[in-house]
Amino acid sequence: MRSTITFSFLGGALALTNNKIDYMNQKVLLNDACPSDSTASKAANFPWSFWPECFSTEDKENTYCVFSHQGFASGRGIFILTTEDFAYAMLDKPAFTNPEVLATVNQYDNPPFVQHEFPGKGRGLVANKTLHRGDEIFSSTPIIITDSDAYELPTSERLALIHRGVETLPPDTQARFWALMGHANGDPVDDRISTNNFDTMIDGVTQQTLFPELSMLNHDCRPNAAYFWDEQMMTHYIHAIRDIRPGEEITITYTDNEKDRKTRLKRLEANWGFKCACSACTAHPELTAESDSRLYQITHLGRTLDDWTSSSSATPEVAELLISLYEQERLDANLATAYKYAAEAYSSFGRKWEAVKYARLSVERSMLDKGFADGDVAEMKKMAENPEMTWSWKKRVGLTGKSCECGNAH
Ligand SMILES: *[C@@H]1O[C@H](CO)[C@@H](O)[C@H](O)[C@H]1NC(C)=O
Repeated sequence: MRSTITFSFLGGALALTNNKIDYMNQKVLLNDACPSDSTASKAANFPWSFWPECFSTEDKENTYCVFSHQGFASGRGIFILTTEDFAYAMLDKPAFTNPEVLATVNQYDNPPFVQHEFPGKGRGLVANKTLHRGDEIFSSTPIIITDSDAYELPTSERLALIHRGVETLPPDTQARFWALMGHANGDPVDDRISTNNFDTMIDGVTQQTLFPELSMLNHDCRPNAAYFWDEQMMTHYIHAIRDIRPGEEITITYTDNEKDRKTRLKRLEANWGFKCACSACTAHPELTAESDSRLYQITHLGRTLDDWTSSSSATPEVAELLISLYEQERLDANLATAYKYAAEAYSSFGRKWEAVKYARLSVERSMLDKGFADGDVAEMKKMAENPEMTWSWKKRVGLTGKSCECGNAH
């Protein structure tokens, strides 16, 4: 319980010098302390469009502020509710320092889809042209970033900050925000944010980010689109992960699809308030039980392939089985990881060309599901060029019980 409610108000100069925070009582902030139509953005070197409004935790250890930048992403705007350090670190990313990198982002003028109202399910996006695996569906910048740690503030203060944040967004962007659906009762801003939030990593911490267009995509446990977050570009990319025909709904996953049906149902209900209706959830119990059984084996094989000790039972055949299981489950995005396991398994037995083949396959999928700049992508690119120079090369050659595999090496 927090007995005293305090907040801080950072003026522009204070925000820059970063050494003094004034505490006042809450009424002052909400009524008149914040010049909402201030000319802050014109003040020399002040990067935000408004004076940040802030609250501190009771112990004054952390201060959370609303940092608003209306010019971000060609005027789409963004507000960031976090600590001063995190907010200013974001400003150093290319998305802010070099706005041209976002030139092709947030383009919704001639999209490859139409909005459609599905009875009993709500709106969704339906492809209106053929999309091939790898085609971009859209890419977008967040309009809201909220630090999950800001929940340590008393609720009334956190709500005051997010309400203030929405007011600071450009009018078009505010309209996009209000068009979003919530799923619970309660505060209308909080409900919309918590219903539509996506967790992303920024500078090593989990931030909750909101992309209004992303929220139009419905969930499927076996989705046909994959997405990733590029922290430097501050952009969320969505690509087709398999071919999509005109008339087909474009779907993404909201949850971990390697979990069994019961777990998926529970999480979707708890976090988004809907009953999973995709075929992998609603098929005949005999079929969903078999699907669960494949998922358990996927988990088990992953552990086997991760075992690099001398008693490991990992072989290329184990990796081939893993790939086959992902294919049966139609987990197209997750194949990125299965191909990586296969590349490493073949490499570990000195089988160069199979390693190259699976490294190539892994790069292609990983770029769509993990991101262009992801570490796994870089690693698999190296493997595709030169398996002999990677850490796994011949790692398992000559291990006990593997003599038949070694005989196959070439
Ligand atoms: C698909 O629909 C969008 C509207 O959402 C439209 O702008 C676009 O031209 C359409 N594309 C095709 C190929 O019909």
